[in-house]
Amino acid sequence: MKTLIIVAHPDLQSSRVNRALAQVVKEQPDTTVHALYEFYGDRPLDVPHEQALLDSHDRIIFQYPLYWYSTPPLLKKWFDEVLTYGYAFGPGGEHLKGKEVGIAISTAGTAASYQPGGYNLFTVREIAKPMEALANYVSGHYLPPFAVHNANQITDEQITEAQAAYVQHLRTISHVQTAGLITINK
Ligand SMILES: Cc1cc2nc3c(=O)[nH]c(=O)nc-3n(C[C@H](O)[C@H](O)[C@H](O)COP(=O)(O)O)c2cc1C
Repeated sequence: MKTLIIVAHPDLQSSRVNRALAQVVKEQPDTTVHALYEFYGDRPLDVPHEQALLDSHDRIIFQYPLYWYSTPPLLKKWFDEVLTYGYAFGPGGEHLKGKEVGIAISTAGTAASYQPGGYNLFTVREIAKPMEALANYVSGHYLPPFAVHNANQITDEQITEAQAAYVQHLRTISHVQTAGLITINK
């Protein structure tokens, strides 16, 4: 199983959580880390390159900090430009069929805030429904989300725990599993 981690953080150098998560998964076997903002800078997306990367992996994880309950803008642009008719859907658009698709996000909000009754109103799984719908639309298998909460207050020790949990998540997760959200740093 070859895993492609597409990292979308506008400033990975200043990031604590996403940088640490990207670093640790980079060392894992059969894993490619592709950091979009660093790779492209101001250049336009190379769609054939992105599609070839997708073709050569079995599992795609989108890793990003939650921005206004959504993805940073370059990842949205990536969806719009890379997941094209005839490639990801429509006639001949079966390139992602059967691949596992997941998300790994960080949030400033605490785990409690992402529960019903919390100030963010919804769970991460609910908030990330567009990603689940996207996975379904391209005939992929959506994985339970991985989330690191309270990311702006997180200690170095908790980051180390989150790294280990991320590696474990990627090792053991399967779309057949019905478990809900994997939550780090309550
Ligand atoms: C433009 C912007 C929007 C954000 N929106 C949210 C949000 O909707 N929910 C949330 O919990 N945190 C939000 N945050 C906080 C980030 O998710 C948080 O800073 C990030 O996960 C920290 O990860 P890092 O250490 O990798 O940068 C936002 C931050 C920025 C800059």
